[in-house]
Amino acid sequence: MNTSMVVFGATGDLAHRLLYPALARLDGLERLDDLMIAATGLEKWSSDRFVGSVAESVAGLGLGPTEQRRFLERFTYYQGDLSPEAVAGLEPSLADSNVYYLALPPGLFPKAARGIADSGITRTGEHRLVVEKPFGTSGESAALLEAELHEFWAEEQIFRIDHFLGKETVQNLSVLRFANRVIEPLLCATHVDQVQITVAETLGVEDRYRYYDGIGAMRDMIQNHLMQLFCLAAMDAPAAWDAEILRDHKVEVLRSVRPDAQVAGWAARGQYSAGVIDGVDVPSYLEEPGIEPNSTTETFAAVRLQVDNWRWQGVPFYLRSGKRLGSKLSEIAYRFREPPTQLFAETSLATAEPNWLVLRLNDPEGIDLTVQTKAPGLEMVAEPSRLHADYGSGEETVSAYEQLLLDILEGDHTPFLRCDEVAAAWRLLDPVLEAWRSGRAESYPSGSDGPTSADSILLDGHRWRPIG
Ligand code: BG6
Repeated sequence: MNTSMVVFGATGDLAHRLLYPALARLDGLERLDDLMIAATGLEKWSSDRFVGSVAESVAGLGLGPTEQRRFLERFTYYQGDLSPEAVAGLEPSLADSNVYYLALPPGLFPKAARGIADSGITRTGEHRLVVEKPFGTSGESAALLEAELHEFWAEEQIFRIDHFLGKETVQNLSVLRFANRVIEPLLCATHVDQVQITVAETLGVEDRYRYYDGIGAMRDMIQNHLMQLFCLAAMDAPAAWDAEILRDHKVEVLRSVRPDAQVAGWAARGQYSAGVIDGVDVPSYLEEPGIEPNSTTETFAAVRLQVDNWRWQGVPFYLRSGKRLGSKLSEIAYRFREPPTQLFAETSLATAEPNWLVLRLNDPEGIDLTVQTKAPGLEMVAEPSRLHADYGSGEETVSAYEQLLLDILEGDHTPFLRCDEVAAAWRLLDPVLEAWRSGRAESYPSGSDGPTSADSILLDGHRWRPIG
């Protein structure tokens, strides 16, 4: 079956920064077969000018001249809007199987979904629609968006991208859990005392102020990326590696969380003030270009989620994400309980740290299990050692987008969000966002580990893992 991809918003930043480089790398790996790409945008560009812009965005990938030519020849540029008439003009580029990639601001998704359906081009053949987060800014707006999409598209045709699900370590989380007899039985309340999921960035809001101000860390990161990591870290083993079963299990996790009515007890927020990152002075959020001087947008958010089921009874899952923190760190960390008896109480082993199983999502990716071992010598002295799985430094690593694009072309829904997952995540966080409509986020210095109020959501005896 021949395949085509239609890129809406083809002259925009998302397409150039993420989509074209990922497609070019897949082409380099001989994974695009006969794919033709119809690129459409509002700009009155000639085909040469458009292809030149794609060539620039893939220039750093080191493609040879033949590979580069083959990649660029896949594109045809159409100038046009989202009206059914303009979309109908794409017909000559369509194939038996077609992927419509909306590299557009989310406000335009419904218009594009309708434009494609009303153009008549989907009457025959196979058709898939690809949309990217954010999926709404609240449960209500997400439901409205879904209703608009579903008016024209069936759920099985929609691929909702959360790029974290294409990350190597996120996929490895499931393999580590479900392909190893030695790990999975330990991941439950009997052995695990807490789970911490952190996505910390050193970057500030950069030039994304139009999108970010008023959105903030809870909607930008926690509602989607961290909630997905949480689901994958907490869910039960699916009976088969099947997109529907897997997503049923993720929804079940979200539905098992029973948050307290008192939001302040389980959610915290912060906003960065001026500080120093990597030896460089950086301004406060309120001094960033384009930000409202009295903005209350949070640049850090943290929540404690309690999964009310047999497996995780009493084990808190702590999720936090923030900008301008002390270092770039993304990890999922399970902390195990102390051994049941203190055999070595009379030795320095008595103060040994409990074990941590840590999956690191950013460079260098990998998995570490910290264990206590005896230091060589005559004394019973403990030292922490790492059992390390190193899979992140090889040449074979692919970007999240490459992985996800290939899955879309192959029609595999496994790493994409189903609409009920999105809704269930909003249902949990809507009360927090509602409570945060008043008051202010606590300020935290850029380069720190975040606001001190993040500590207030921890249960007794728990501490955040260091970021800086
Ligand atoms: C995006 C957020 O979805 O993810 C950004 O909008 C954030 O604010 C980014 O910086 C982080 O992704 P990654 O892959 O760089 O960790």
